[in-house]
Amino acid sequence: MRAVVVGEHGGPEVLQASELPEPSPGPGELLVDVAAAGVNFMDIYQREGRPPYGGGLPYVPGAEGAGMVAAAGPGVSGFAVGDQVAWTGVPGSYAERAIVPADRAVPVPAAVDLEVAAAVMLQGMTAHYLCHSTYPVAPGDPVVVHAAAGGVGLLLTQMAAARGGTVIATTSTEAKAQLAAAAGAHRVAGYQDFGAVVREVTGGAGAAAVYDGVGQATFDASLAALRPRGYLVLYGAASGPVPPFELQRLAAGGSLFITRPTLAHYIASRDELLQRASDLFSWIGAGQLTVRIGGRYPLAEAARAHEDLAARRTTGKLLLLPR
Ligand SMILES: NC(=O)c1ccc[n+]([C@@H]2O[C@H](COP(=O)([O-])OP(=O)(O)OC[C@H]3O[C@@H](n4cnc5c(N)ncnc54)[C@H](OP(=O)(O)O)[C@@H]3O)[C@@H](O)[C@H]2O)c1
Repeated sequence: MRAVVVGEHGGPEVLQASELPEPSPGPGELLVDVAAAGVNFMDIYQREGRPPYGGGLPYVPGAEGAGMVAAAGPGVSGFAVGDQVAWTGVPGSYAERAIVPADRAVPVPAAVDLEVAAAVMLQGMTAHYLCHSTYPVAPGDPVVVHAAAGGVGLLLTQMAAARGGTVIATTSTEAKAQLAAAAGAHRVAGYQDFGAVVREVTGGAGAAAVYDGVGQATFDASLAALRPRGYLVLYGAASGPVPPFELQRLAAGGSLFITRPTLAHYIASRDELLQRASDLFSWIGAGQLTVRIGGRYPLAEAARAHEDLAARRTTGKLLLLPR
């Protein structure tokens, strides 16, 4: 089968389309014909070998996708050949076929297109846990969503607004600002002036929460934008990791909270995985959640997908289409 292989850590050029032996499912595993694999920022960190993402070499990147069950290994129940499934947190998705543990596979309803399913497993479930579980947005809460035209950002903006939050979004271009506004942002700001916009919108009080996946470049201003006892939800580092932090700053800033959450801990149980996926699929089916697929690439162009994502040229979700 065709798959993308990383033989050494490095730039996008280390993503090489190669021919690999056909995988076969072991006990409790599904063999899936991949319809679409999601491209995520985490794939870039892992490709670069950025701690803690570096791992064994060589490897097939990609942790997210959707497709059709081609075979089931011994002991699998609840799935049959031909079923539509999606997954996240499963390595080896940049490939024509992937091995997915059945207990990590999520059934995809017939009404949901497989590309759309692949597009929401990682970024959609992340947006879901951030605004429902990490800091649950309450009606009227002023919250900041950074990189609001990105994969997580567009979905998080919609969900936070649907919960009644007043979303102050940041983006780097006018075209991205328009997407964030269409997703439900109350105001869209730049990275330099979002603090002033938060003060204006809140009458000087500050934001209840800042959802920050940009990291180094926004961290200080994100902290400064919070109201007393506000939450900085630092969930990524697109601009680079935040340096070591002096905890006393939380007291001085107003008894603030910082958390550094990661999706795996919010879908650790099968019930939680299925519950979050089921919310997403039902909102998509009901037309309450719009999924923007901002780019589709063949496997052989995985490097271009990574370059585009890292260079801030993209909006919404990027997918690799193996066939
Ligand atoms: N913790 C978790 O569970 C979890 C799960 C999924 C994703 N994440 C994190 O969420 C963040 C967004 O991921 P994503 O896959 O949805 O990507 P994305 O938001 O589609 O792309 C990243 C965006 O970040 C913004 N950005 C600001 N400064 C940047 C810089 N110096 N370099 C590159 N981009 C910059 C850009 O938007 P503008 O051009 O508008 O600035 C860019 O489009 C990443 O940090 C990722 O690691 C975390």
